[in-house]
Amino acid sequence: MKSIVPIVLHSERLILRPPVPEDAEAIESFISDRRVAEMTALIPHPYPKGSCIHWVHLSEQQWIEGKKASFVICLRDSGELVGAISIFNDSDRHNEVGYWIGVPHWGQGYATEAFRRVIRYAFEDLDFPVIVTYHFIHNPASGRVMQKAGLLYLGTTPLGASRGDQCFDEVRYGIAAGQWRTNLATI
Ligand SMILES: CC(C)(COP(=O)(O)OP(=O)(O)OC[C@H]1O[C@@H](n2cnc3c(N)ncnc32)[C@H](O)[C@@H]1OP(=O)(O)O)[C@@H](O)C(=O)NCCC(=O)NCCS
Repeated sequence: MKSIVPIVLHSERLILRPPVPEDAEAIESFISDRRVAEMTALIPHPYPKGSCIHWVHLSEQQWIEGKKASFVICLRDSGELVGAISIFNDSDRHNEVGYWIGVPHWGQGYATEAFRRVIRYAFEDLDFPVIVTYHFIHNPASGRVMQKAGLLYLGTTPLGASRGDQCFDEVRYGIAAGQWRTNLATI
């Protein structure tokens, strides 16, 4: 696999770029919403006020160390920030992808478009052999995003995922680079 270096990605309607400190307020306003936080493994709720800047600095550090590529998702037309998406460069984490979209922007295909672009980045630019990720069983919208982005259902592990001290069934999706290339015309 190649090293992660800071990069800006473009898709039809979106720009995916590394976060900067000026993004912290907008990010925090979206991830403070319980409907976003509770579907993720790591975003706390209630979100500690003013602490998103620490996540921005952490993501800058992870870019430098090549451990994780985190992007904010912005609209190409206006530059408005609508979400975020990250991919680990770490075989222990199965090249896992995490994402969220701010509630006012749900249902417009932004998560799917961003995920498709990050998959292309992972396979074409980073030479990842495979992407495997998961969602909580009570989050079918995320499963739909994974399907629409071309990932294949791998299985469900009872109580395989956790958020804090709660465990949930983990629904896993993934795709290998070769399968993705073969299926590209249909994604
Ligand atoms: C999951 C999430 C990222 C989806 O973002 P989005 O931009 O609205 O996603 P898209 O518009 O690309 O696609 C959503 C799909 O889910 C479907 N969907 C929405 N709610 C659903 C539900 N309750 N059950 C089944 N499908 C659902 C939509 O209909 C759409 O599918 P369609 O195009 O076939 O109609 C967003 O809801 C979110 O941020 N949720 C909270 C954080 C989160 O879940 N992150 C992922 C953790 S694994």
